Amino acid sequence: MAVYAIWNNKGGVGKSYLTFQIASEYAKTHPNAKVLVVDLCPQANASSMLLGGIIKGEQSLVAIASKPRRRTIAGYVDERIRSPYVSPKVGAKFFLKVSEYNDQVPGNLFLVVGDEGLEVQASRVSNATNPGPTDAWRIVHSWISDLIADIRHSWNVTDSTVFIDCNPSFSVYTELAMSASDRLIIPFSADGSSKRAVRAVLALLYGDTRVQGAEQSEFYLNSQKFRMSAPKIYNYVGNRLTQMNLAAANAFKTVVDEIGKEIWSVWQSNPNQFAIHPAGQPAPRSRAEFRRMFQVEINDANTASVVSGALGFPISSLAAGTKTLAGKRIMVNQSQLDRQKPNIRQFVQTID
Ligand SMILES: Nc1ncnc2c1ncn2[C@@H]1O[C@H](COP(=O)(O)OP(=O)(O)OP(=O)(O)O)[C@@H](O)[C@H]1O
Ligand SMILES: [Mg+2]
Repeated sequence: MAVYAIWNNKGGVGKSYLTFQIASEYAKTHPNAKVLVVDLCPQANASSMLLGGIIKGEQSLVAIASKPRRRTIAGYVDERIRSPYVSPKVGAKFFLKVSEYNDQVPGNLFLVVGDEGLEVQASRVSNATNPGPTDAWRIVHSWISDLIADIRHSWNVTDSTVFIDCNPSFSVYTELAMSASDRLIIPFSADGSSKRAVRAVLALLYGDTRVQGAEQSEFYLNSQKFRMSAPKIYNYVGNRLTQMNLAAANAFKTVVDEIGKEIWSVWQSNPNQFAIHPAGQPAPRSRAEFRRMFQVEINDANTASVVSGALGFPISSLAAGTKTLAGKRIMVNQSQLDRQKPNIRQFVQTID
């Protein structure tokens, strides 16, 4: 029943790609559950992959966004700009069944499509938080929770899991995603700048600033004021890890170890910001236990990943062999698939 946000305010770390892979895998391995992806990124990359990739998916995105009543996230936000403080309870009009567009994904996977219109709406959303009723900020920051509640209500099921793909920037729509989610998945890549991002997220969400006395985010201050919760860290996902040759492997390992140390020190100073899982498990007592609970590693699958995203084939349903992509024939090797399929499968087994 949880709502997961996939976010890091560092760009290009694999948020959208992982949203696509984990939501598809989760739906496949939980056939009795309903799985919803809310694409809160104006770039709509996760939507494009889910709807069939760079040709078919992009065509569908244009077709969906061109209709007068857009069945997209921006369509819903438009309704809320018109009725900011009273939920019109129309969220169930704004999702679609992904398998009607892409037969490679399971039938229990649903999507609120991303829309570049979010960018234009952002200032109007911010304006709705102030002025207005005294708790305008709280009500506006409940819009995405309202949307999810409407959709869940229309399903009338007990078992539904939601994944929200976010934009890297801590814009108002990312804030709305944070207020709507219980758990946070933080992808990072094995480069030096990912180390900074580990703490940047903490400052923005939990007010734990790097420098003592530094100004705190509006999001943190208002979440405190209105007693709204921020999501708890579910895990840090080292993505696109690779082992090309010994020298590269050593370089990667050194950087990943440095980032690992940073994450470990975050846990030591902020254990309350982490979501202990699975339920009933004791808190980790050693670094090894911590790693098992909160750190995930996903390999770089090279061509297989490119083909997976570009064709909208989840990695678990992609077979080795020659694929046709935009008229060109591309070879996907079994060895590339073997590098990533087990990672995604095992990662999704830890999501409840
Ligand atoms: N494990 C992986 N193996 C190979 N390629 C990957 C992997 N994860 C992501 N990629 C590729 O890396 C690129 C960036 O990924 P993605 O767009 O998902 O990042 P993002 O964090 O969503 O970016 P943004 O911050 O712009 O939203 C994409 O081309 C994606 O296909
Ligand atoms: Mg993205």
